[in-house]
Amino acid sequence: MSIPVFPVNTDEDWDFMRRTVRTHKGNVAATGAPSIGKSFMFLHSNGPVIPVQCHEGMLAQDLFMARVFENGTMRTVPAFAGIAARDSVPLLLQELDRLMEESQSVVYSLADEPKSRRITYTDSNGELVELKPNDDYRVFATSNHGPDRLPEALADRFVWFDVQAPPSEALADFPEHMREAARVLAGHPDPLQRVSLRSFRRYVNMQAEGFTAEESAKAGFGSRWESFIDAERLAGLVDTAASSR
Ligand SMILES: Nc1ncnc2c1ncn2[C@@H]1O[C@H](COP(=O)(O)OP(=O)(O)O)[C@@H](O)[C@H]1O
Ligand SMILES: [Mg+2]
Repeated sequence: MSIPVFPVNTDEDWDFMRRTVRTHKGNVAATGAPSIGKSFMFLHSNGPVIPVQCHEGMLAQDLFMARVFENGTMRTVPAFAGIAARDSVPLLLQELDRLMEESQSVVYSLADEPKSRRITYTDSNGELVELKPNDDYRVFATSNHGPDRLPEALADRFVWFDVQAPPSEALADFPEHMREAARVLAGHPDPLQRVSLRSFRRYVNMQAEGFTAEESAKAGFGSRWESFIDAERLAGLVDTAASSR
């Protein structure tokens, strides 16, 4: 079985994805190029969420408990998933695909449907804690790879979006001649042709800070900098990139 994925290219697609995040009482995952706006969307489309940066060394229990130093002693306190499920706030797992398999297995129960959901952990006193969040609790996830790189049963717990282009609002403060370039290049499937949105933003910010166009372009775009400050050359570069998508 392959997991369905909805491609996101236009502002209309972005609206649909945001509405899904706001309204759908289920888990939502977004994949796509770095810096295209996945995390920003989850953090700003809805009310509060609890973000967690996943990494290879993260243990299942790190999602539920953290150790803090307080008044001269170490204490165990609830962590991300424990707080999200206790307070019924969506949990945002950033880069879900970086968790090792053992830790991913906890996400199976975190992302189960309410009727079959049992979120439990053992606290530092050896007591079993069972959390019963309401409907506002869900799992959001970003992933560097599509659902095919995750265990099928885990991937199947999410509605998937593949973000292929940034939304117009993320390009609003770019110079006119750079907007189409950013739209086409930021989500380009070929990493060698891709130019991150952060590069474009760096160029814009550095110029606002008083650096010259040439300096800002070198910092933002490296050896290809000249193509980016000349509208005509940039349009040519974009045409070539668009035709190889
Ligand atoms: N819709 C947006 N409007 C304005 N800025 C945005 C928008 N989306 C993303 N950004 C900017 O781009 C940066 C990278 O976006 P982010 O969501 O972290 O990327 P991703 O999670 O896809 O790697 C953010 O820190 C933010 O400054
Ligand atoms: Mg992110």
